[in-house]
Amino acid sequence: MSHKVTLIPGDGIGPEVTKATVRILEATGVKFEWESFQVGAEAFEKYGEYIPKEAIESIERTHVGLKGPVSTPIGGGFSSINVALRQKFELYANFRPIRNLPHIPTRYPDVDLIIVRENTESLYSGLEHEVVPGVVESLKIITEKASTRIAKFAFEYARKNQRKKIHAIHKANIMKLSDGLFLRCCRTVAKGFPEITYGEHIVDNTCMQLVMNPYQYDMLVMENLYGDIISDLCAAFVGGLGFVPSANLGDHCAIFEAVHGSAPDIAGKNLANPTALLRSSLLMLRHLGEFDASTQIRNALEKVYRHREKLTKDVGGEAGTSQFADAVIEEMDKAKSATAAVH
Ligand code: NAI
Repeated sequence: MSHKVTLIPGDGIGPEVTKATVRILEATGVKFEWESFQVGAEAFEKYGEYIPKEAIESIERTHVGLKGPVSTPIGGGFSSINVALRQKFELYANFRPIRNLPHIPTRYPDVDLIIVRENTESLYSGLEHEVVPGVVESLKIITEKASTRIAKFAFEYARKNQRKKIHAIHKANIMKLSDGLFLRCCRTVAKGFPEITYGEHIVDNTCMQLVMNPYQYDMLVMENLYGDIISDLCAAFVGGLGFVPSANLGDHCAIFEAVHGSAPDIAGKNLANPTALLRSSLLMLRHLGEFDASTQIRNALEKVYRHREKLTKDVGGEAGTSQFADAVIEEMDKAKSATAAVH
């Protein structure tokens, strides 16, 4: 059986990290049919659309996307492609596991945290307008439906995966109505999961608590903006944005992507570290039910980091993106030969 997947290589370092990831995925023996599309500025130049309708139709058909980073202009220009895709396909849950890799120097070893971020509303609804010259209003939207849905996602995941504790992160002391509603929804959902300890922390305190002692948390659930900021803070626990995977999950579709950007400073130089997209693709493999392939790659990746011979420049190595991918594939081949020899 082969899996149809919509591939969005993105721009900047996107095509390089995507190519490396696709090569490693294919080396597992799992069969894929990739439907590849450009989005963003390059797509607009060619097709007059930032997200070509063929790409949208492809995701509607395959239900699964693997996406590289896409540049978004700051303070003007077109709106974020990422936000548009999340809204279009109602990818309401942004799921980011934060786990260390061997030999990446960090302040804390053995971090195992899960961030669940509501992905469709809050200040990311894009509802902004100039009230009068010099005064701009940006609307924060929080609904009972989306808050309940994300809380359920977090608790159901916790139950299925034997996680023990969930904290809802908020600022309901100031935003009494909006964050107050979010908290009420979390509390209601929590009642249906008595085996999971439920707590609430204010977002600014959470930042300090995380930096002081990340082990006090297990899973965090929060609205969009807090999730965006806190998940990047947590990326620092495992070496930075180059190591953190993410999944954008809805009821019908899922898009897997690295959390780093298009890194225009190193694009096209074979310098990018593909680890974050590769780890995102492991979440995709598990989503597709390909658990063995996911384990195969994870073990090989950990070996490459443990041996430290073929690491990319951002982590002190000298290998390029493609040599790093070769090294992961080589480790997978070695593991396969070792298993074959035993049998
Ligand atoms: P960035 O993540 O692209 O780069 C920040 C720094 O990290 C740079 O020095 C870069 O070289 C380095 N870096 C990032 N990924 C790396 C990797 N895989 N390997 C080695 N080094 C890596 O963030 P920045 O500069 O703020 O954003 C650049 C563009 O990316 C912007 O247009 C932004 O909108 C877009 N972006 C897209 C995202 C997405 O599509 N999911 C997410 C974040 C930003």
